[in-house]
Amino acid sequence: MHIIGGTASKSVAEDLAKITKSKLVNAISKRFPDNELYVRILDEINGKDIVIVQTTYPDPNIIELFLLQNAAEEAGAKSITVVIPYYGYARQDTKFQNGESISAKALAGLISLNADKVITIDPHKEHILDFFSTSAYSCSAVPEIAKYLKQKNIDMVLAPDKGAVDRAKKASKIINCDFDYMEKTRIDGNTVEIKPKNLDAQNKNVAIIDDIISTGGTMALSIKELKKSGAKKVYVACTHGLFAGEAIKKLSSAGCEEIISTDTIVSDFSKVKIAPCIAKLL
Ligand code: R5P
Repeated sequence: MHIIGGTASKSVAEDLAKITKSKLVNAISKRFPDNELYVRILDEINGKDIVIVQTTYPDPNIIELFLLQNAAEEAGAKSITVVIPYYGYARQDTKFQNGESISAKALAGLISLNADKVITIDPHKEHILDFFSTSAYSCSAVPEIAKYLKQKNIDMVLAPDKGAVDRAKKASKIINCDFDYMEKTRIDGNTVEIKPKNLDAQNKNVAIIDDIISTGGTMALSIKELKKSGAKKVYVACTHGLFAGEAIKKLSSAGCEEIISTDTIVSDFSKVKIAPCIAKLL
């Protein structure tokens, strides 16, 4: 197996090459004066099984992925596996209103044109895998996140809503603590209360786990409420840390103890590596 890392996912590709004892292929990408992208695979890959690792966020990384797929095909790759640590555009997975595009489907169609297999991590909804016309698999970063949280004396893991409770349950089993989900109750026209459905957070160290942190709004609301109800420390963890706009500021000022994310999108908060979970699917 030969592994190529796109600009967005170089470190994940390096980790994967180490874990799977595969060759890390040299490739360059640079911009023309008009900003169009140029990629070139420098090593010989004719007849080889190629793995391209590239997050599809932000947009320029999508073009780079397409060009790397094409370069691998042109260079005679025997097979092309595309590993997408964070599958951007997955959240629009249906038509909510007439006339909309289904971005998760549109992108999957294009990636499938030049891939024998696709692997992604914690896609927003599993059914987006069906949009790929090639075989597509997902793996979960939750076990790796839970291993990190295990060192933090966590008493309970919370999902930000009922739909995400399985993720919290999975993490709680590894950490060996309680789990629950945050439930919103409308008190009156102006007041919404949000608190753990069944458990009491008082004097507890709590971790909230979500797939994505974007604006941080969902997490910040939960942190504030948990602190109000006497939680000791509140950790927030996610697979994909987009941290749009003022997200980090919002989380810190809400009283968050620590922000934890994986390296599907590389940031200062990428404390958990996802290569070990991807390696199992290669
Ligand atoms: C929603 O379905 C996702 O699982 C996340 O809860 C959401 O993307 C978080 O967004 P934000 O950080 O903007 O509240």
